[in-house]
Order: sequence, then C-alpha cells, then structure tokens
Amino acid sequence: MKRPLILLAFFQLVTIWTFAQVTVQKLLTENRVDPIGIDVPMPRLSWQLASAKQNVRQTAYEVRVGTDAASLAKGAIWQSGRVSSGQSVHVSYAGPGLQPGQRYSWQVRVWDNTTTKPSAWSSPAHWQTGLLTAANWKANWIQPGFAEDTINQPSPMLRKVFTATKKVKSATLFMTAHGLYEAQINGKRVGDAFLTPGWTSYNSHLQYQTYDVTDLLMPGQNAIGVTLASGWYRGRLAWQNQRNIYGKDLALLGQLAITYTDGSTEIILTDESWKSATGAVRMSEIYDGELSDSRLAQPGWEMAGFADGNWSGVITKPFGYTNLVAAYNEPIRKHEARQPVKVLTTPKGETVLDFGQNLVGWVKFRITGKAGDKVVLSHVEMLDKFGNPYFENLRTAKAQATYLLKGGAETLEPHFTFFGFRYVRVEGLTGPVNPADFTAIALYSDMPKTGEFTTSNALVNQLQSNIQWGQRGNFLDVPTDCPQRDERLGWTGDAEVFSRTAAFNFGVNNFFAKWLKDVAADQFSNGAVPFVIPDVLTKTGAFGRTPMGAAGWSDASIIIPWNMYVSYGDRRVLEQQYASMKAYEGYMESVAKNDIWSEGFQFGDWLSFVDTEGSPAFEAKSAFTDVHLVAQCFYAYNTDLMRKAATLLGKTEDAAHYATLLERIKTAFQNAYMTPNGRLISDTQTAYVLALQFDMLPEPLRPQAVGRLVENIKKYKNHLTTGFLGTPFLCPVLSRFGRTDVAYDLLLQETYPSWLYPVKMGATTIWERWDSMKPDSTFQSPSMTSFNHYAYGAVGDWMYRTITGIDTDEAGPGYQHSIIKPQPGGKLTSASASLQTYYGLLRSAWKNEAGKLTLTVEVPANTTATIYVPAKNADVVQVGGRSLAAAGLTVTGNEPGYVITKTGSGIYTFTTTER
Ligand code: BGC
Repeated sequence: MKRPLILLAFFQLVTIWTFAQVTVQKLLTENRVDPIGIDVPMPRLSWQLASAKQNVRQTAYEVRVGTDAASLAKGAIWQSGRVSSGQSVHVSYAGPGLQPGQRYSWQVRVWDNTTTKPSAWSSPAHWQTGLLTAANWKANWIQPGFAEDTINQPSPMLRKVFTATKKVKSATLFMTAHGLYEAQINGKRVGDAFLTPGWTSYNSHLQYQTYDVTDLLMPGQNAIGVTLASGWYRGRLAWQNQRNIYGKDLALLGQLAITYTDGSTEIILTDESWKSATGAVRMSEIYDGELSDSRLAQPGWEMAGFADGNWSGVITKPFGYTNLVAAYNEPIRKHEARQPVKVLTTPKGETVLDFGQNLVGWVKFRITGKAGDKVVLSHVEMLDKFGNPYFENLRTAKAQATYLLKGGAETLEPHFTFFGFRYVRVEGLTGPVNPADFTAIALYSDMPKTGEFTTSNALVNQLQSNIQWGQRGNFLDVPTDCPQRDERLGWTGDAEVFSRTAAFNFGVNNFFAKWLKDVAADQFSNGAVPFVIPDVLTKTGAFGRTPMGAAGWSDASIIIPWNMYVSYGDRRVLEQQYASMKAYEGYMESVAKNDIWSEGFQFGDWLSFVDTEGSPAFEAKSAFTDVHLVAQCFYAYNTDLMRKAATLLGKTEDAAHYATLLERIKTAFQNAYMTPNGRLISDTQTAYVLALQFDMLPEPLRPQAVGRLVENIKKYKNHLTTGFLGTPFLCPVLSRFGRTDVAYDLLLQETYPSWLYPVKMGATTIWERWDSMKPDSTFQSPSMTSFNHYAYGAVGDWMYRTITGIDTDEAGPGYQHSIIKPQPGGKLTSASASLQTYYGLLRSAWKNEAGKLTLTVEVPANTTATIYVPAKNADVVQVGGRSLAAAGLTVTGNEPGYVITKTGSGIYTFTTTER
C-alpha cells in the first residue's frame, strides 16, 4: 500500500514543479512600495514575475483595484480584464477618477508562456491619494503670533488641542510649511521623514507630505505640535550671503482628516485657534548648523494637558494653495548609523571624533552635564597634515551644532540642518569621551539601493564605495554639488554627468522626476536653463542677469530625462519634460550662429587637470580644452537625444528637424575645430573623447583620433587629464574603440591625476578635484576644495557597463532587453555586479581562475538578454556543463573575442578556457 502512496506524492510533486505557476511579487505604484499621498491621476503599476523556470515571459495580465484589500475579488472599482500583453512595468491605472485622501488596494495576476493557467493573484499592494486639487485644501496658512527675534530666528512652535469624539478608524495628516517643519502628535513624532517639506522651487512647487497618523491619536483629547525652521526657504543660501530667497516669514499649513468607526468624519485644520511660542531651538540654518538651549525647552508642549496660557496666538495668511504638490520622490530619512572609530587628541589638544566615513547627516549623542554647560560639535571632512580639523574648505559655513544643557542626562541631535563630515571636534565635555555615546547618522533621500559592484581589486572596491557614499550624501531631496560648504546647491552639470551612474547604484527615477519638474519651472523664457535648480543664483546675479545656458550644465534638462528613460524604461518622464527639453534645444539653436555655438559663457571641461606645480612628470602645462569645442559636442549630443526622444514620442516633424540639424552641427564642428586630417584644435583627452563619443568626426578619421587619444594618455604616463565633461566618456570611448586595455590602465592608475589617487590618500567619498588633497597632504585652494562631490564618480557607469558588462538595450529600455558584455582586464581576477531592475534582479559575475573563465548571468523573468561570452568560439563554451546547443542556446552573432547568444530569463553559467 505504501509504495503507490509514495509514488502518488512523487507525481504530485513533479506536477507542482512542472506546472508551477509564476509568482507575482514586488508590486510598485508610481515606482514606490505602497506610497501614501500621491497626486498622480492615473498611477502606473509595476510588478515582477518570479519563477524557477527559464525563459519565462508574461503573455497577459489582469489588474484589479479596489478601496478595500479584503474585498478586491468582489468590490473592485476597476478591473482591467485579461489584457494580452507582456507589459509588467509602468502599466497605467485606467479606472474611474480617484478620490482625494483615499486608500486604494490592487493586485494582479498574469499568464505566462509556460502554462495556460493564470498565476495566483498577487498579495495586494496599496496607494493612498493626496489631496489632488487645491480646492481640497481647507486649512489656513498660519504664522506665529509673537514678534520674532529677527537676529537669531528661534524656531517657532505651534500647537493645537483637539478632541477625537469617537473611536478613530483612520486619520491622515497633510502638511507643509514655508521653511522646514517637524510635527508631533501626543508627544510622538509624525512619520520618519526629515527636513520636510524638502527643497523645490517653492514659488512653483511646494511639496506637502501625507502621513497615516491613525496610531498616534487617542480617544478624547489630543494635541498636535509643530516646530518650524528657516531651512532653504529663508535661511542663508549660496555663497553671496543672501537670505529670504522665497520669503521672510515662516508659515504652516496642515489638515488632519479623521474618519471614525461609525463612518463619520472630522477635519482639524491650521487656523486662528492655534497657539505659538518658542522653545529649545534658538537658531537653525542649513549652512551654519543649530543652536539648542535645553533650558528653554517646554516639556510636554506637544501634549494635550500642557498649560499654554502664556503662549501667543497665531495669525492666518492667504498664501493660497496653487503651488502645492504632493511629494513625489522618497523623503529624506535616517540611514546608516556609525560610532566613532577613533577618538583623537589633535596637536592643538582638541578632542576629535573620527567616524571613519565622510558622510552627510548629523551626530546624536548622550550627555550628562550641568545646567548651562555648553557643548559644541564642529563638523569637518578632513584633518590637515598636522592632524588638526580642516575648516577652511567650509568657506563661511559654520557647520556647528551647539547645545546648552539643562542639567542631568540628555540625548541630543539637531533637527533642521545637516553637515558633511567625517570628523567632529567636540568642545565642552567635562569628563572623558565615551565613543559609544556618539552616533553619526547619515541622512539622505530614501532611494532604494539597487546596485552592487565588486571586483578582486580592493582599491576599485573602495572607489565604488566612495561613489556610492558620494551619492548618498548629495542626494538630499535635490542633487547637490557638495554637502559641506556654503553652497550645497542643485548644480545641473554635476547631476547631468553623474545621472547614469546614479541610476545603477540607487533607484533615482522619482528623485530626478521631481527635480526635473523644477528644471522646467525655473527655465528662462528664452529656453535657457539656470546653472542651479532650484535656481537661487539668478536673483543674485552671480552669473549676470542675462538668462543663458552652458553646455553640460543646462543640458541636464535633456540628458537626464533621456538617461532616466533608458535606465527605467519610463516614458512618462520624457512626455512630461518634452516641452522643457525642446525649449532648451531651441535656446541652443537661437544662440548658435551658422550652427556653431561659439559665443557666451561656458564652464567647459570644468576642473580638468592643470599642472600648477610644473611637475616634471608631465610635459604639458594643462589639459585645457577649448570651451566652445566642448559646447559644440554637447550641442550635437543634445540634438541627437532630441531626435531620439521626438521619434519615440511620435513627433515626426521634430525628429526630422533634429536629424538634419545634427548633421549641420557636425559639419560646422569639423569646419571650425578640425584639420582635414582630423587633428583637433585642442590636443586634449577631452577634445578627442567628446568628438569620438558624439560621432563628430567623419568615420574614416576616427581611428587616428583614437590613436591621438591613446598617445595623449601615454604622454601623461597613463594618467587622465579630463574634467567634469570629459571624464564620464573617457573609458566608454576607449572601450567602444577597442582600447579597454587603456581604460583599465587609467582606472587602475594610483598616482595623481586618477580615480585611485584619492583612494590611496584615504578618501571615503569622491573629491571635487583630482587633487583636492595633494600628495604632501596639503590642500587645494580652500575656496573650492570639497571632499564630497560626485561628478568624477561618473566612471561608475563604465564600471557597471564594461567591467561587468551590465547594460540595457535602448530599444528595450529599463533592462527589458539587457546587453551583457563583460570585458575582463586590468589583472582583475573577478568582478560581479547586480542591479535591481523593475523586472527583478539582473546580475553578471565573472571570475578568471587558472585559465578558466566562468561567467554567471542572471536574467529576470519577462526580460531577455543578449550575452557576449568572452570566448574564442562557440566550441570552447559550455553552459551549465553542456554545449550551448545542448542547453538550447543558439549563437546569434560573433565579434572578435566573443560568442554572442540571446536568452530569456534564468541563471546561466558559462565557462570557457580559450579566449
Ligand atoms: C560647484 C560645482 C559646479 C561649479 C560650476 C562649483 O562651485 O561646486 O560642482 O558645477 O561650481 O561652476
């Protein structure tokens, strides 16, 4: 009897295995996990297929959306029905109009190519709408009712007591401010976002946040308390000491929507019934830090029972609601927490904590002291060659957190500022320092970490770590140039050159989509794009007051939308930005004369190598590239992207225009900057790199240009000399033209100028200059020496795309069709990278052991990949121990040194002994 039973069980197992359906998982709404407070009228839905089988493709899907997860089966407000389609990413909701402040649930099932049955329905995912329209704002803008100390501008605190009359089913808080805000309900912090409402071009877009505060409310009396601070709104910004860029007074807008279990609703608003006072935070500024006096704290002020008899009232202001938008990107949250790796005593006798990593955020610490004791934490990135904290590169930013103690034990941290630091000088401690009392907390936009990259070379791995830390620190709601000095601005050029690398390391789709809205909002009427977004420089006349664009900087308006489209397959960003992109292209057309963009201000190849020391190691004095030659190359680049974007969006007339324009731009380039033999007027790496990258040279003249580029690199003894604009394309151009060997020489170069020189000098982030710190441990000019500038980290893109060979086909963007073409070299014995795409995990890893190369590629379900296996020919390649043919793979092409095959999803391990 037993045998048939076992057999039956065995057959059941086999049946389950063979006919196992795919699982549908990792649902995203507008690219986020269960977002709350979005105002997109037709959110896009994405899901992943998971299956143990290979070559799995979705053939159809069905989505259903309801207001209640439990009753999706019966009470859906929208069912797509079975849609024959392979699309599993960015599928637009197409049901009835969404209601404000409403929670929606959705789930999906799919059909795939391996069975006829649908998958099970996925677990439900959710989203909650924001207020959607200005008309749904009922609250009043309020301001404190007391006369402000206009010198120190202590943080106002605003409070209100209200009664929850019945049992609360749900409660949602919508809130924003002029300035920054932090809210508490009944003494508990609302949400985990920091520096809200974030930074936008406030006059055009002011984000509001939405919080589910159901669990914070209590039956009966409740209190809400909100602290405000100057932040980007009215604090000091940019290096010309300007304040009050968006306004001079702080204000709060908040609306709390309560639904009781009996279905009735109530709404608590900011209005004239609120009270105001000040408390512990006596001063806070983005650049200068925060001053907090615990003796002035008002304990319990965010609780209902607090006696606020001596508090002032508030005044209401008609600021309106038309610029309000629901926050679209991930908020700034707390991330890594690190304790000091060392407590140092400097030659000057000061106590300095070394956190071992340059990061952006602040320090939280425990302390026991006497009332009135003063503790000052001063933040720096570096120690000078004597071991003292180096303050000069902060320029006028004080970057200090100052605390006056109340006496007894306290735990303290700032609220409305941030610092870029690795070292903290601590003053005012009475006893010995206990490092365990201090924690550095990294704060940055909560972008999902998507990329991992590692090799057998520890220095390259540190470079990758530095790139990622540079991104963490400078992706703080806007992409900033640096996080420490009196700047910290949304420099367009820096963001542009780094954007593609950024999209490997973290999920930056929504981050950039939000910022690009301000690029469009702040664009000048002649189409030029300001150099920083949000634009806080034009008003000051830092670059004159005539609206103008600069190549590589203003181009962020075209290049970043395109890069996001390619990286995420997200067409909407192109649709939304197209008018702005076209306007900037139009600006370039309008300033170009006879198709040459050769007038006006340009940053050019910013911070390229300059041999100020006259070092004998280099023959040339500098690597300066004519700025207009650079501009012409970027004019072509932008025009080509416009041609592609217009084609994609079906704007055929535009596409035809850009195609013809592009040819004219290239001809003009050749006439102006190139000899008939193909030598360029600037004999620099950047000139040849850009000309080759953007196909500026006639095809027959390209090989000689590659030769000149390589010769130039050799002349500099395998050192790069490129600046912001040449650097991102240096290695890609070498690889494209068959000189990956030289690209590796540059990557692995350990002396200045190179990527690994700072690593050898102990860098933990990317530096602004190739020699921010010189070999003798002195610094570059303090007026521009940041140790956390991500631009040169743009080599990360090449590292992923060439060393491990992870790339997307532009025709199958967002890794719907991947191209995996690893290029081992540079004495690396292994390299591995993975990327969390919207389809799932894409991975490429190779190792070279005893003459045997093993390449493992993981291709997510519902995608395909063209894999270039580094091998002499197909006969010497095995996959999973079998020949390619036996494994069902066909050779789809050949390239010297590669066997090319196309696969569907699955994990494939190729081995070869002959390359
Ligand atoms: C910033 C840059 C920026 C540059 C342009 C600098 O002050 O830090 O990274 O792109 O100015 O001039």
